[in-house]
Amino acid sequence: MKPPLPFAIRSSRAWFTRALFLFVAFALKAAPAFADDAGGVTNIFKPNGTPARAIFSYTVLVLAICAVIFIIVVGLLVYTATRFRRRSGDDGHEPPQVYGSNQIELAWTVLPIIIVFVLGLVTARTIVEIQDATPPPKALQVTVVGHQWWWEIRYPELGIVTANELHVPVSDKAQPQPTFLKLESADVAHSFWVPQLAGKTDLVPNRDNLMWIDPMTPGTYLGNCAEYCGTQHARMLIRVIVHAPGEFEQWAAAQQRDAASDPQVKAGRDLFFSTSCVNCHTIKGTEAQGKFGPDLTHLMNRETLGSGAALNAPDTLRNWVRNPQRLKEGCYMPDMQITDEEVEQIVRYLRTLN
Ligand code: CUA
Repeated sequence: MKPPLPFAIRSSRAWFTRALFLFVAFALKAAPAFADDAGGVTNIFKPNGTPARAIFSYTVLVLAICAVIFIIVVGLLVYTATRFRRRSGDDGHEPPQVYGSNQIELAWTVLPIIIVFVLGLVTARTIVEIQDATPPPKALQVTVVGHQWWWEIRYPELGIVTANELHVPVSDKAQPQPTFLKLESADVAHSFWVPQLAGKTDLVPNRDNLMWIDPMTPGTYLGNCAEYCGTQHARMLIRVIVHAPGEFEQWAAAQQRDAASDPQVKAGRDLFFSTSCVNCHTIKGTEAQGKFGPDLTHLMNRETLGSGAALNAPDTLRNWVRNPQRLKEGCYMPDMQITDEEVEQIVRYLRTLN
């Protein structure tokens, strides 16, 4: 009678194929979903700036060591399985059972200890290299405050407050102009992560953490909150906009101005100030001084809404004002229960805040 073993193998192989298929299908389906959130996909293998490059070199070292171990282990496995496979003409007896070998046991104890020790030293060196940097006098100082689920961004020396999009000047090797970030939290633990610029650093309540970036190429760098912080953790995205030389100063000067006050949108403006919008949002130069939500003074300068939940376009802004819960369920901006006409007026006002 045939043993049932081959059937078990066949069916487990079928399960494996099915699981692999499901995984690939999920990955393919999930990839465009990330892009939908106006977040795009970022890349840890394209570092830009000193901290990210240090982490990248370390990653390559770890991957290389792991690859060598993988090749040796799989090679030995394949060799053993082929060399000692069952052959026709075998006598069917159990082969000699060998227990214990001091040399081999010593080798597979000492080698991993050396590898772990080397990796530990390199890790410590990388961390110290990044954390011990002292800010040069030209360094830009920024405070980032994590909120459920958005980022407050303050430039204390420049008197600017904005949200979700961190603007910094480009740095270069000859004249480094890094940005030093002081990280705080208004509620729970978050984590600031822009993979192309630096590693993750947590934002912890009642504690200031520090990190720095020195991007060498102008452009937009995507990142996200990397510490589960509640329902909308996934829509707590961040963008870092790195300005070419001279452009950062222009951006900062525009941000320092009070909000635009266009008489043509007076109806929407009055509506904004008569609803509870003012309790949560600040609009510089007006009586709106709320601190609970993002500063809206230069809202139209931002590329996204709801901390990267959607691109900042007229109809997404309209949907957002009508009911933020549809785009970002559970966020702390409530459905204001206002009419379509009122939504339209408020949006017309908001669209003048450039
Ligand atoms: Cu903030 Cu996750």
